[in-house]
Amino acid sequence: MTALLAVEDLSLGFATEAGFASVLDRVSLSIERGRVVGLVGESGCGKTTLARAILGVLPRDQARITGGRVWFRGTDLLTADPAVVNHTVRGRAITFVPQDPFTSFNPLFTVGEQIMEILKWKSPRAVLPAGRSWLPAVVSPYPADRRRADFDAVMELLDAVQLPRPDQLLRKYPHELSGGQRQRLMIAMALLPGPDLVIADEPTTALDVTIQAQILGLIRRLATERNVAVLLTTHASARPMKSATPSTSCMPGRTSSRRRSIASLPPRPIPIRKSCWPACRAPTAPPAGFPARCRC
Ligand SMILES: Nc1ncnc2c1ncn2[C@@H]1O[C@H](COP(=O)(O)OP(=O)(O)OP(=O)(O)O)[C@@H](O)[C@H]1O
Ligand SMILES: [Mg+2]
Repeated sequence: MTALLAVEDLSLGFATEAGFASVLDRVSLSIERGRVVGLVGESGCGKTTLARAILGVLPRDQARITGGRVWFRGTDLLTADPAVVNHTVRGRAITFVPQDPFTSFNPLFTVGEQIMEILKWKSPRAVLPAGRSWLPAVVSPYPADRRRADFDAVMELLDAVQLPRPDQLLRKYPHELSGGQRQRLMIAMALLPGPDLVIADEPTTALDVTIQAQILGLIRRLATERNVAVLLTTHASARPMKSATPSTSCMPGRTSSRRRSIASLPPRPIPIRKSCWPACRAPTAPPAGFPARCRC
């Protein structure tokens, strides 16, 4: 099967006061539709950096991509027109679930207002103009019939992420919701544009252990049901992520090691594939300014 996403030999680093600091060194992985792929590593080994490279949201003034390709649906996102990637890929075909649901909502608006604002721009029902001639966001209309269809889709997805009484919930402010409810909303928001790939960057770290297991089970089920690929990053030490599923993890100062570390995504045998961290092959001292345990 052709991979939906294939990261090939991606190398990148950051310009720092002490010089260039390599963070990813020839990292490769691939994901197919409907699969959950775990990316396991200690803090600072580059999980978020890889996620941001795929999403194309690395800091321009600091990040330097020194090699590799990020193939998504047959297009190299690193060399594609950034405006086209922004309009058709980021937030539509590839979406994101953040680590911390507590700070990811604006406290001044109801969650319903925030969800509908996203759909105004990223709804799968929005007709994308060809080429680069789309209107600037501020003058783009939000037709009433599309708004109604988007709202129906929101209600359906809130039900899918097991949030009861969605109409009441949409009228609430973020501080009126629990951490688990907020993260379920984040997952719903990531699925609303109808993505092919969701990148979930430690989506359960801020939650308690029981809720973590529920959220991971939900992600697994939705990936299968909706045929969406999920790249799920996690600390190797995350307790509910431990299972019998082998994975390759990233250990500072050592070669990569096979561990029984990732994901309580079983009991159903959802394929969580080996994550590849060639960066771990070349243990070196961390560059100046980097914590000692922050270098693979
Ligand atoms: N803008 C930047 N400039 C310089 N160094 C950076 C920058 N962003 C990240 N780094 C460094 O890159 C390395 C990888 O960071 P990253 O956030 O990807 O790690 P991580 O694996 O996601 O860690 P965690 O599990 O704690 O979230 C770290 O050493 C970090 O200090
Ligand atoms: Mg991170």
